[in-house]
Amino acid sequence: MNREIQAVGIDIGTSKVRCVIGEQSDNSRMNIVGYGEADSRGLRRGIVTGAEAVSEAVRKAAGEAERVSGLDIQSAVVNLSGEHFRGENKNGVVAVAGAGREITEEDVERAIESASAMQLPSGWEIVNRLPQEFIIDGQDGITEPVGMSGARLESLVHIVIGPSAGRQNLDKAVRRAGLDVDRMMLEPLAAAESTLTDDDKEYGCALVNIGAEITSLMIFGRGAVQHTAVFPFGGLHFTKDIAVGLRVSIQEANKIKHHYGCVGSFMMEDDEKQEIIEIVPVGRTETRGLTKEILCDIMQPRAIELLQHVADETAGTRAQISSGVILTGGGSIARGMVEIAEQVFDAPTRLGYLEPEYFGGLAGEVKGPEWAVSCGLALSSMRSQIRELNMNGKSSTRKVAEWFENFRDKFR
Ligand SMILES: Nc1ncnc2c1ncn2[C@@H]1O[C@H](COP(=O)(O)OP(=O)(O)OP(=O)(O)O)[C@@H](O)[C@H]1O
Ligand SMILES: [Mg+2]
Repeated sequence: MNREIQAVGIDIGTSKVRCVIGEQSDNSRMNIVGYGEADSRGLRRGIVTGAEAVSEAVRKAAGEAERVSGLDIQSAVVNLSGEHFRGENKNGVVAVAGAGREITEEDVERAIESASAMQLPSGWEIVNRLPQEFIIDGQDGITEPVGMSGARLESLVHIVIGPSAGRQNLDKAVRRAGLDVDRMMLEPLAAAESTLTDDDKEYGCALVNIGAEITSLMIFGRGAVQHTAVFPFGGLHFTKDIAVGLRVSIQEANKIKHHYGCVGSFMMEDDEKQEIIEIVPVGRTETRGLTKEILCDIMQPRAIELLQHVADETAGTRAQISSGVILTGGGSIARGMVEIAEQVFDAPTRLGYLEPEYFGGLAGEVKGPEWAVSCGLALSSMRSQIRELNMNGKSSTRKVAEWFENFRDKFR
């Protein structure tokens, strides 16, 4: 157990900011010792539009987490979001030059650099380089090439690119709240860190994080990221549909969605369908009644449409998703979402609850899919701090293995 490690994750979303503080427990599990949540303002589709409002929400969420944990936090790993991110699979080849043709860290870095050589739109940057595998003299499927022998080293790398201004503005907003940013991590990658098992990543799965205004998709296979896509829609679209359909305010629509919302009419018995909900139309004080079936009729087509877009993207990649679809983010909690996704993707689907093997402490309080990103950010922070500490005073083979893990981290 290491008390020096303090792992903090802050998920800055369009509707909520969530902060999670973790400490290392035995067996590399993370004990959650603090968590906090605040309503978010100053973001549109994951991009900062008002820095002071974002800072204020970060202060609130972090302050709440500090109170729960009794700890002071100085820095955090923060999520990176926005509708423009996209992933591409690239490859790069280098000749192995060193003595005895033994592959060194430098060769691997060169191979990844070579895969990253690409023309970027003006103002864009590479935000993540995620090595998938290496090929040494035609032998594929190699994940840890350092120390192996060969003459030709090829890297297959998933590269995620996006506009740099979004990242810089988010960084500034967090610093304005008095916190340092250790690192930024793509939102679906963070959600995957806390909810997916190694088997899920190995056999293939699609992680779909449904936020308020952004839905992101990351497809895993053979232990690595194979595809990334972001869509400009999420839970807020349901709220807007309800507001328009029932002539209620956005706040009232949100309340109705959270309390009575259901996106699959097949989930309800006939009696329940006819149950009456009292709503307050805009500009009125008296309530009006409507059946749960009418509410479902508004929400169901939107759920099918939203998930169909994501499923089409997944099908387009021809990826094998034997481990199915994992839904995270607040938008996934809507009743019936999993069942609809199961039909639309034609694959087993589950809600992304925190993987019990990775978390302890107050994990029960934050196990819901809406906490997957913040918990994943904190877990990733703890894992990289442990690896850094372990790098000191290790045998050279262990160092190589750990270096590789750090190396993957470096490109996250
Ligand atoms: N019980 C519920 N039923 C239906 N929808 C829900 C429920 N709880 C939360 N939501 C919806 O989830 C969405 C918020 O999800 P989340 O907190 O993951 O988004 P965010 O991270 O703030 O936004 P984004 O990732 O798009 O920037 C909102 O649209 C909210 O209405
Ligand atoms: Mg989010």
